[in-house]
Amino acid sequence: MSDIAKLQIGENSYEFPLIKGTENEVAIDVKTLRNATNGVITIDPGYKNTGSCVSGITFLDGEKGILRYRGYSIEELAEKADFLEVAYLLIFGNLPTSEQLEKFHSDIKSNSVVDDDVKKIVDAFPKTAHPMGVLSSLTSALTAFNPSSVDVDSEEDMYNSVVKIMGKFPVLVAWTMRKKQGLPLNYGSKNLGYVENIMKMMFEQPNEDYVINPIIKNALDKLLILHADHEQNCSTSTVRIAGSSHVGLFASLSTGISALWGPLHGGANQAVLEMLEAIRQDGGDTKKYMAKAKDKSDPFRLMGFGHRVYKNFDPRAKIIKKAAEEVLNDLGINDPILEIAKGLSEEALSDPYFVDRKLYPNVDFYSGIIYRAMGIPVEMFTVMFALGRLPGWIAQWKEMRTNKEPIGRPRQIYNGENLRSFIPLDKR
Ligand code: SDX
Repeated sequence: MSDIAKLQIGENSYEFPLIKGTENEVAIDVKTLRNATNGVITIDPGYKNTGSCVSGITFLDGEKGILRYRGYSIEELAEKADFLEVAYLLIFGNLPTSEQLEKFHSDIKSNSVVDDDVKKIVDAFPKTAHPMGVLSSLTSALTAFNPSSVDVDSEEDMYNSVVKIMGKFPVLVAWTMRKKQGLPLNYGSKNLGYVENIMKMMFEQPNEDYVINPIIKNALDKLLILHADHEQNCSTSTVRIAGSSHVGLFASLSTGISALWGPLHGGANQAVLEMLEAIRQDGGDTKKYMAKAKDKSDPFRLMGFGHRVYKNFDPRAKIIKKAAEEVLNDLGINDPILEIAKGLSEEALSDPYFVDRKLYPNVDFYSGIIYRAMGIPVEMFTVMFALGRLPGWIAQWKEMRTNKEPIGRPRQIYNGENLRSFIPLDKR
């Protein structure tokens, strides 16, 4: 393949360089397009064909169902690593040595106290508030209690900001859930592992010692790894574009949480459970919901199905489906919802509407079944997604800032009124 792209507009022809990634992906570099063509731009709603950056963090191949973090396959990481190791890998680029991991965890623990005044903000929310709205607000509020912005040119300052948010975010997640449950806002224990500590903060009851269930701990570790990053998805792109204005890390993360909340994105894991529950209460009539999903006049979509990039099985969905069966079996839970999910998936995977559009189960289709088995309320499912995605957002923000990328400011094509004169009120 030649290393240029040719463009013909009317009588004029232009050449633009091609750039190729380490996995042989090719892009047309259109940085000079508007100047070279005296104002012509590209347009691509939803950025289905447009790359926003060159990144070395996550590689995914939607056609082949491949996902790798810093070159390691998601299958290996989910099987062999723990979440804190994967967080370190995503943020700093390599798997940590045992000394690096120990220091990372120790520094996180030293930064896992949240200013007690934040509890006043938590108290101000009604119990009916959606946890994603609470979490986004609390994360932004961290800026008020940690006002110094990140000096991204200082490795030490960047590291300190990372361990600060990695320490405080799980506390905010636990307080968000406990607020809804009317439970005291607590802390975990420095004697526990990163994920065990999250479990203790989330699940402990004030009148009994909390005992870690290893089945749940392993399942949660795996789920957090599987959600940790996913290249330029909607919420990560939001974190990057917010951060490109040089607003701080915490405020940028808060925008990502809001974007993730949407039912077409991370909010889908809650919507899947609500859909499966509705099907169960409807006598398990999956065919009715399949018909609704295919009916263009019906806004209903089969939640947990389809993906902007994966036109094959989402590799994470495969791993989570297996984990869901294992966790329910190990916990001795016979949840009819899992059977409905499997039935729906089998039907959709043999239905021409879904097959022709290459709609497969995605990461959100089975994850809620595990969260439910863990006793996590359905409104907290997307918060759990955010907890997993945190290191990915941090890594992407850090890459964008340390690469000194310009402020994100897309162009547009205007299709409104042409110039017209003002009409005085009494003449309208
Ligand atoms: C996540 O980007 C990421 O990486 C995201 C994520 C991550 O880790 O960050 O992987 C996490 O967000 C996973 C996706 C969770 N969302 C859902 O499960 C919601 C249901 N899915 C859809 O809304 C949809 O599939 C999207 C939003 C995920 C993708 O939408 P696209 O890429 O814009 O595709 P589209 O809407 O253009 O759909 C193409 C066709 C359309 O039909 P036609 O116009 O061609 O006839 O497929 C149809 C759509 O109507 N379609 C569906 C469908 N998804 C797409 N029809 C019924 N049910 C669905 N779920």
